[in-house]
This record gives sequence, structure tokens and C-alpha cells, in this order.
Amino acid sequence: MFEGLVRDSSVDGRVYTSREVFAAEIERIFARSWSYLGHLGEIPRPGDYRRVSVAGRELIFIRHRDGRPRALLNRCAHRGAQLIGKACGRARRLRCAYHGWTYGTDGALRQLPLPDGYVGEDAPRAGHPDWALDAYPVETYRDFAFVRLQTPSNPLPLEEFLGPAREALDLMADRSPSGNLSVAGEPLAIVLRCNWKVYLENLHDGVHPPAVHESSIAAARAAARVDEPPQEVQWVAANGQPLAVFGDLKVRCHPYGHSDMSGFRKEADGEDPAYRQALAEAWGAERAGQALTRNLHNACFYPGASAHPQYMQMRRLTPLAVDRMLVESWTLRAEGAPESHFRRNIRYANTIHSPSSLVKPDDAEAYRRVQRGLESFPGAVSQHRRDSALRDSGTSTALDEEYVRAQYRAWREYMTAGR
Ligand code: FES
Ligand SMILES: [Fe+2]
Repeated sequence: MFEGLVRDSSVDGRVYTSREVFAAEIERIFARSWSYLGHLGEIPRPGDYRRVSVAGRELIFIRHRDGRPRALLNRCAHRGAQLIGKACGRARRLRCAYHGWTYGTDGALRQLPLPDGYVGEDAPRAGHPDWALDAYPVETYRDFAFVRLQTPSNPLPLEEFLGPAREALDLMADRSPSGNLSVAGEPLAIVLRCNWKVYLENLHDGVHPPAVHESSIAAARAAARVDEPPQEVQWVAANGQPLAVFGDLKVRCHPYGHSDMSGFRKEADGEDPAYRQALAEAWGAERAGQALTRNLHNACFYPGASAHPQYMQMRRLTPLAVDRMLVESWTLRAEGAPESHFRRNIRYANTIHSPSSLVKPDDAEAYRRVQRGLESFPGAVSQHRRDSALRDSGTSTALDEEYVRAQYRAWREYMTAGR
């Protein structure tokens, strides 16, 4: 029944506005695919945990004492109470606040009050697997952890799922001389008043910046009329480059709806020579050079994550309702790189991606208007047919909507699989 909503280059508005479609997406797309859980740097020590919502389930992303992460359902096996109330913290045991059932950081039931009060074969017992917290498979790639809530008959390993889109994660990990990334503080969080797909459809959209970001481009141009404009001004002004520049940006579409795009902001300051050398010693000159010069803008890990490797940003995307989503974005610190590297990336996030920046609210308003427009009458359609460069060269660019069509090919696969 959902198949007819998506055509080759346009989509029925109900795909963005129907609660029924949204509920099916959560089960068929988000619960079936690998969803981004978090970076291991968020839980560096055994017992460190963070509450994460994935496909409508509340999970505890926690590091067990064997060093490996777990994804445990945040629900007590007794009467189902939420187990962890804090957003993040550290614990040796997870103790339910209601009657005190206590679990290990691997989810095993360790202790319960009045165990003799239970009789029969299926009585709750410490250590018995039937009474452990529900745990879901977690796989990591270069310390980025993903979870899958439903296991199909022939599950796809994470690495195969990510495919060539892995490059964005490799680039970030390879920018760390020690190979380690850490997470400094809380993410920037923004609730967008749009369906989750509206956000994904913007990730490689090179046509929108001159229009949507017009006011900040004008302000940046005015501020740039000095000898050495600050880097922040150059970052904002870069949105106002001619459309031909965006037409030169290659967009790659990968299997399962993933994609990435080359970057359009050049770094005027280059990188610290000592940093370059440390990277070359760690990874060899070629790989280090690649990590520093390969300029990827947004990468999309369909459906629930995106990254901006150039500025070390990883984002988790959480659909909250048919017309609302949460975007959390972390700026990862490359351990062993000079502090200036991290500071620059934080300034970038604050300038372009913070909810209070000059740029992000423009996008948020555009997404809200798309949502409002599609809700305004039942026959609404969203068009994704632009393919200016594809016609000539067979290659997709930031002026084409091929990556959006690829997202909907993946959407259709997920939504109709097994039907
Ligand atoms: S609900 Fe958790 S111990 Fe009773
Ligand atoms: Fe934008």
C-alpha cells in the first residue's frame, strides 16, 4: 500500500504527513536498519552510559567491564518501569528505583528482593537469561556504534551496510594522530518542525544556499570588506558562491540510501605543520594527506545519521513525530591533534550549525515551510526530478536531486520488504 506513494522522481505528500506512514517507517526502516547509537568516546569508561532513543525505544548505551558497548532496553523486567532516569552518567549496577531489581552493565539480573517469594520453573532468578534486560546487537566501525532492533533472517553486517559511505567515518578517525576521537560535552541539539525526510533531502542541496541563506550571505559580504576577514565570515559567505560552484561538487549515491558530497568551504588557515607531521607518522604520508585534503561536506547514513568530516561533526537524527525531529550534533576531538584544530571545528559548528547561528535557523524555517505546505492539502506532491549534470556526464552533483531519488529507492525497499 505504501509503494504507490513514491514515484521515480516525485513523492506523494502523505509520505511526510500521514501518521500511519510514520508509524510504519519506524518499524520497517528505523528498527530494521543499523541506527547510529553513538561514539564510544561518549562512554569512555566501564559503567559510563547514555540514554538514547532509537526507533521509539528508549535504550541504555552503556560500556560493560569487558570494554564493549551494549544497547539495553531501558525497561525493568519486573513491572516495566523506566530503569535509568538521567540522560547520562556512570554506574556499576543499574538499580530500578521502584522495587530495587538490580542489573549488571551487561543487562543480567543480579539481585531482586524476596527471591523466595517466587515459585515455579519460570520464577525470576538472578543470572537467568529470561530475566535480563532486552539487549540488541551493537556493531562498531572505527568506534562509531550502531544498533539494530530487529534481526532479519539474513542480517547485513554493519560494514556492508555502510559500504563506501564508511569513508566519512574513516576520514574523521584518520584525522586523529592517536586514532582516538573523544567527545567533549553535550551535542548541539535542535528540534526541527518537519518530517525527518525533509532534513535528509537537504543534505546535498546546492541550489538552496543562495536563496535560503540570502540574509546571512549579505551580512557576511558586508563584513568581508576588510583586509583579512575572520574565518567565520568566510564560512558564511561561501554559501553565496555562484551555482556553477555547486555544480562542480560531486555527489555520490551509495547502496541503502547513503550518499556523500564534496565540500565547498576551503580552509584558509591550512593545518598546523606539527599536526600534519604527527598524522603522517601515525598513518603514513599518503593516508594522512588524504585525511587532510579530502574535503567531504555532508555524508548521509540513511536513515538515522549524518556526518561532516571536514569539521569532525557526527549527527544523530531522531524522528519524534510525523512532523518533528531531533538533530543532535557532536564535534569530535581528534586526540593528539593541537587544540587549535578542535577550537576551529567548534567555531564552525557555532557559526553554521548552532540553533542560534546566522545560518541554521534559515534551514529550519525552510523545512517548516515544506512541512506546512505539504500539510495544506491532500494532493500535495514533492518533486525530485532535477538532474542537470546527469544528462551530460552521468555524474551527480550538488545541483541534482539524484541523491533524493536514491533515498526513496531505499525507502521503498524497506517499506515493502517481506510484503
Ligand atoms: S518495576 Fe523495577 S523493580 Fe519493580
Ligand atoms: Fe542550508
